[in-house]
Amino acid sequence: MRTRLVAGNWKMNTLADEAIGLAKAIAKSAKAFGKTEVLLCPPFVWLKQVAETIKGSPIRLGAQNMIWEDAGAFTGEISAPMLKSAGCQYVIIGHSERRQFFGETDLTVNMKLHKAIKTGLTPIICLGESLQEREAGQTERVVSTQFANGFKDFGQFERVVIAYEPVWAIGTGKTATASQAQEIHQLLRRLLQEKTAEYAQIRILYGGSVKPDNAAELIGQEDVDGFLVGGASLKAKDFIEIVKATVI
Ligand code: PGA
Repeated sequence: MRTRLVAGNWKMNTLADEAIGLAKAIAKSAKAFGKTEVLLCPPFVWLKQVAETIKGSPIRLGAQNMIWEDAGAFTGEISAPMLKSAGCQYVIIGHSERRQFFGETDLTVNMKLHKAIKTGLTPIICLGESLQEREAGQTERVVSTQFANGFKDFGQFERVVIAYEPVWAIGTGKTATASQAQEIHQLLRRLLQEKTAEYAQIRILYGGSVKPDNAAELIGQEDVDGFLVGGASLKAKDFIEIVKATVI
């Protein structure tokens, strides 16, 4: 049985007090989360404060991005060892907003993936098609290509989490239907099967307008193992409800 995972991607939101308040409220509800693993990914500048706030609770800490180098002249960047030292266990890699606005490609995703693993961080590798690609019937091809290139020369699949996030569903209020999500999760499971005997253990999250009222149906799909939540992760009540919908 795969341990379900619900990750809150706060993106570029929250000021210090809001970040601490949100983390506090979520940590306070941890008893209701059963076996579901809960992860908070605040902006870099609040990692330390959030780490202190959730200390002693089972809530985990992750970052939203990293660079593929350990240290050096890379102004404005944050490295995997820094994240580790700030208390992170996870890091989101290749989010569609990084790909869209900051030039992230399958190649940089691949470099970051290797570095995250070497540093002992669990990468959450994001992939998904745009609306145009879906409408052109290219979803499977796009996702398979992102998978093949993103995981190039990689063998430690048991150490990663994958997030399927159709770009057209992110922040738009348009969720993939449960069967649309399952179809791609199943494809990803098949791709994993070609790579590792552990394919059944690897968690595949869905992301894109996950809300309290659609979480139960999505998590009911065989290959949906949790969520990467954006907008709804900024409201403690909504996020907690989403997590509760995943508790077995
Ligand atoms: P959303 O974002 O839940 O606001 O659609 C999801 C994500 O970008 O991870």
